[in-house]
Amino acid sequence: MRCRVIGVMSFKGGVGKTVSAINLATGLSLKGKKVLVIDGNFLSPTLHFYLGLLRPKTTLKEVIRNNLAPENAIYEHKSGIHLLPCNFYKGIDLNKLKKIVDELKEKYDYIIVDSGPSYTDEIIAILMISDELIFITTADYPTLASTVKAAKFAKYKNVKILGIVVNRKRNKKYELSKKDIEATVKLPVICTILEDHKMMSSVLEFVPVVWKYRRSKSAKAYLELADKVCKSDNSWSLIGSSLR
Ligand SMILES: Nc1ncnc2c1ncn2[C@@H]1O[C@H](COP(=O)(O)OP(=O)(O)OP(=O)(O)O)[C@@H](O)[C@H]1O
Ligand SMILES: [Mg+2]
Repeated sequence: MRCRVIGVMSFKGGVGKTVSAINLATGLSLKGKKVLVIDGNFLSPTLHFYLGLLRPKTTLKEVIRNNLAPENAIYEHKSGIHLLPCNFYKGIDLNKLKKIVDELKEKYDYIIVDSGPSYTDEIIAILMISDELIFITTADYPTLASTVKAAKFAKYKNVKILGIVVNRKRNKKYELSKKDIEATVKLPVICTILEDHKMMSSVLEFVPVVWKYRRSKSAKAYLELADKVCKSDNSWSLIGSSLR
């Protein structure tokens, strides 16, 4: 299987990019895939905190700056996922990053890339290394407006978009419906994650909710998302159908 690099993106802070990157990765790992998560939130990296790696000695920043092998900064979490954390890094060397990710593709089935919320040069790096993107949004107009902006930008850069994940849904009247969201962004909603206190528990325990609380509503949704992502791999098709 060829490795797929999936960027998790939103131009709005705090909507759940990092937890979604971690839990999608864990869902894929539970399906037997080899998965690496990269912290692409170069200006405000937090991925490692969510998994209890409080002071990583070596990170992506040192790998790029000191020309180290990436394995020097890859850590294995007890859930099975691998993590390449980052340290505050302004002015990332895009070519070196691309080369590192291309090399890592040999070793993984999936590479999930978390990203930052700001519309900065660093976002270009995420688009450059990602084969596909997933947008995270909440069901309100201000967040959706930034999702529209991010989607336009990705389409302009020709990166394949898998769809939208609506996070922290409370099923209240004041929230936008799936139909509203799809009509506004002109992309399919591929998953809806409910507001779930088990998510906060898992953050406190430094574990993915999908790994520790598999029966929780958020875990079930992330497992479905992992399933959809696997099934969306259309790099292979039976030649029989085109011969018919
Ligand atoms: N479905 C959910 N239910 C409950 N809490 C959630 C849910 N999704 C995210 N959270 C919480 O919201 C907070 C922000 O999530 P997260 O850090 O993943 O957002 P982010 O988009 O990565 O933020 P940033 O843009 O700052 O990087 C975290 O404390 C997380 O635990
Ligand atoms: Mg984040």
